[in-house]
Amino acid sequence: MKELSQPIKYQSFDIQSLPESEKLLFEKAKITREKAYAPYSKFYVGCAIQLDNGEIIMGNNQENAAYPSGTCAERTAVFYANSRYPSIRIESIWIVGGPMSSDEHLQDFPPVPPCGACRQVLLEYEQLQEKPIQVFFSNLYGNGILVSSVQDLLPFSFGASYL
Ligand code: THU
Repeated sequence: MKELSQPIKYQSFDIQSLPESEKLLFEKAKITREKAYAPYSKFYVGCAIQLDNGEIIMGNNQENAAYPSGTCAERTAVFYANSRYPSIRIESIWIVGGPMSSDEHLQDFPPVPPCGACRQVLLEYEQLQEKPIQVFFSNLYGNGILVSSVQDLLPFSFGASYL
């Protein structure tokens, strides 16, 4: 047997160190998070997607009394983006999440990463557009992590090339 490894590169940041365009994406993700429908988990997530036509698409998590019928912020946003603009590329995506609380400990809340199902869905669009999508994810204070492609978040992924 051979031991192999597949390390990933990522950057950690705080919002102050980012350019205005990325600060704006963070603000949009935070604004849309406020409108999430999350009465069951009370965990609110917002997602903003920067398209290469300059537009920003937003989405939040939408829960349901039949729990698995709900969906995450990332999928709400990316499905809308691709249904509205099927041939426009995605440059970057920002995910921000946390409980709805004024608790100051939220400052230490970890960056909220996309779940496994959302990674799979985002990867499909990354492969379709043949260009990496930058993924920013953070807490409500803008402390976060940047990876330069969805692929980095999903090693050994299954995709269209297998079919
Ligand atoms: N959630 C997201 O919207 N995105 C993620 O990446 C993680 C989880 C939502 C789903 C559910 O409404 C709530 O957060 C708790 O899991």
